[in-house]
Amino acid sequence: MSLAKKLLIILFSGIIALAVFILCIQEDTQFSNVENCMSRLESTPLFSEYNLYCGSCHTRGAMGAPRLGRYKDWNDRTEHSKLVPSYRALAGIGRMPAKGGNHHLSDEEFLAISNFLVSSVEMCNEY
Ligand code: HEC
Repeated sequence: MSLAKKLLIILFSGIIALAVFILCIQEDTQFSNVENCMSRLESTPLFSEYNLYCGSCHTRGAMGAPRLGRYKDWNDRTEHSKLVPSYRALAGIGRMPAKGGNHHLSDEEFLAISNFLVSSVEMCNEY
């Protein structure tokens, strides 16, 4: 094999290694953004109520529930208003029963928690 060919192979593998390295770093940064955003949300006063009453569906997106802090899940729903989704959820929408089944919550309590959920995307930027 000529020296030129060997150099070419070395250069080529170098480029691939760099590309893989960059991809790994990007994934890491994305992951730490998610972690940062979740820890910010967790230190918000209404998080514990959210977690208790809504978390079972909204943290992982059970039954298609829009997820906490996920911009993409909320983008279409909040396009015209941030209040409308909360009022729809209060009455029950799709597979979500009224108030998520938490009938002991007053409307005001439900709406406050819901506002936390709907606004959670603002703490998570583009995630
Ligand atoms: C049993 C599962 C479940 C629980 C518990 C639950 N939700 Fe939901 N939620 C859903 C599902 C499923 C949807 C999506 C409904 C649809 O669009 O068809 C939804 C949608 C929503 C929406 C968006 C409604 C819209 O019009 O876009 C809001 C706001 C919401 N939930 C708030 C809450 C709050 C606040 C709680 C806790 C007090 C809660 N949910 C508890 C399942 C749940």
